[in-house]
Amino acid sequence: PKVVVVMGGPSAEREVSLSTGRECAAALRQAGYEVIEVDAGPDLIDRLREHAPDVVFNALHGRWGEDGCVQGLLEWQRIPYTHSGVMASALAMDKEATKAVFRAEGLPVAKSLLASKAEVMAGHVLPPPYVVKPYNEGSSVGVYIVAEDAAAPPQLSDDMPETVMVEAFLPGRELTVTVLGDRALTVTDIVTSGWYDYDAKYKTGGSHHVVPADLPGEIFEACLDHARRAHRALGCRGLSRTDFRWDKTRGLDGLAILETNTQPGMTPTSLTPEQAEKVGISFPDLCRFLVEDASC
Ligand code: DAL
Ligand code: MG
Repeated sequence: PKVVVVMGGPSAEREVSLSTGRECAAALRQAGYEVIEVDAGPDLIDRLREHAPDVVFNALHGRWGEDGCVQGLLEWQRIPYTHSGVMASALAMDKEATKAVFRAEGLPVAKSLLASKAEVMAGHVLPPPYVVKPYNEGSSVGVYIVAEDAAAPPQLSDDMPETVMVEAFLPGRELTVTVLGDRALTVTDIVTSGWYDYDAKYKTGGSHHVVPADLPGEIFEACLDHARRAHRALGCRGLSRTDFRWDKTRGLDGLAILETNTQPGMTPTSLTPEQAEKVGISFPDLCRFLVEDASC
């Protein structure tokens, strides 16, 4: 089959997506597919018509590629595509909508609210410490951490969206779980010297991953269970990665979901390919699974 890997695009995570796309294209060639790489620009529909793929491998991250927009276009064109469909993508990309689903499902999340930039900059809208972030971006782009002793609220840059999410800061360890098909693969403990920001995510050596994470059995199992339930509650397809914080001083009550990513990174420093490898699924097999699972 002919697979078009769609990557790049105009989001803030363009560079991450180009890296994901290159890695996945190489893996799919190794798996025996005919592969064409396409940078998602305004002429995307023309390029899809030109190449007439059997499947589109969606390697996009962030707005337009991970939020249901490209998925809608592919439904419209009747081209089977990998990863989640329109609804799950749109829900998962919106961090507040995601939380509404998780709260209804009984999954633990941090207290949060949406506020305008002006409200956030006028005074503390939650007692510090808290985090301000775009409600619809990934890779920690535009995340402000307000410390417990911060006297003033953060001054947000002009490129932040008009509405932002303000979330109570969750102390503790950063954990993550990939769900592939129906299976929660394993838990990774992400160890960083500061916090897990853009550089820590994508620079070689920027973070250290302990996989499988060395956790009490109850916490490890809860992470697997929550990731599976999050994947199902949002209606994800194929692959997702759910990120957690765990405050070990509070036991099971200290575990909360930060978000679910429907287009987890597949770069050389990313967590999902590493988790797959640990449980015996090679990167080409992971990509092949997604192609075989594609639909529209
Ligand atoms: N948003 C990045 C790509 C991730 O979740 O892996
Ligand atoms: Mg994310």
